Amino acid sequence: MFEMFANAWTPVLPISEISSVPVAIELAGEPLVLFRDAQDQIIALLDRCPHRSIPLSLGQVTPEGNLECAYHGWQFGSNGACTRVPMNSLNPAQLSKLSAISFPTRTIAGLVWVFTGTGNPPEPELPPSLLEADDRYIIYHEIWNAHWTRAIENSLDNVHVPFVHRNSFGGGMRDIAQSNAIVQVYITSTATGLIINNRIDTLPFGLELEWHQPNCVVDKFDLLGMPLRAHIFAIPVNDRQMRFMQVILPSPGIDRTNFDFDGFVASAIEDRVILEAQKGEVPNTTDECNVPTDEPSLRFRRWYYRAVKDQKTAENTQLSTH
Ligand code: FES
Ligand SMILES: [Fe+2]
Repeated sequence: MFEMFANAWTPVLPISEISSVPVAIELAGEPLVLFRDAQDQIIALLDRCPHRSIPLSLGQVTPEGNLECAYHGWQFGSNGACTRVPMNSLNPAQLSKLSAISFPTRTIAGLVWVFTGTGNPPEPELPPSLLEADDRYIIYHEIWNAHWTRAIENSLDNVHVPFVHRNSFGGGMRDIAQSNAIVQVYITSTATGLIINNRIDTLPFGLELEWHQPNCVVDKFDLLGMPLRAHIFAIPVNDRQMRFMQVILPSPGIDRTNFDFDGFVASAIEDRVILEAQKGEVPNTTDECNVPTDEPSLRFRRWYYRAVKDQKTAENTQLSTH
């Protein structure tokens, strides 16, 4: 389950988009249904009824906060437990064998987070800038026809800015890119990712980024004097699609009407055009040409092939030998 994205916390949608009406999404190739129960908790279940496999998202939430399947009316509670099977007399032991599959959720930074595994997960490891009150964040998301790994690679790569974003925030870097300026990339490994400093040798400052495994990149624009810190999430939908999510934290005290946050967010469309023209996941480190400024991308690829792909291959090998 969740092939190539297992046992990870990821945001999936803004909290504001989840109500007592079931919402169907696809996450890393698996169908999920999200809804709020009677206690206002956000519940995530596999969107497949254990009875006859129709999407639970076709059903409705009862006043008691259970999700009632549209086909035969079985009801499922918060943890996926089957609480009612109409027109059958079943004892608790029988009911306990009819559970839907549920996934852990959290609400953080105005987002619903889902853990792509079952059981008791570790708590999500988050950058401190995602621990503010929910209403401080500006959240934007859309589905792109691109692989999530290409979007992380793109977010770790600053040298594309004066080219892809020439008509927006990268315009000011055009002259630098046409000069003999060199970008030096300084990388520090952390327990769960990387800190990356991009220093242009002709300037006294550079953009600092953080990559948080698996799919979050923090752009510290505020350290460059802009009134925001940006968090980019590349959320796998399936092999061909991802959800691009930007979570903007305006700097404290900023008057939101004094900065074009919508225009800033909209510049991501320039990345979308590029990423949708690339096909499939990032290749391994030797399959495309690379230069020194690609080092963050190469570090990400090494992690992806070691921690995600190789692990999956090992599992398959194990399965095929038993
Ligand atoms: S298919 Fe869901 S209750 Fe029968
Ligand atoms: Fe970009």
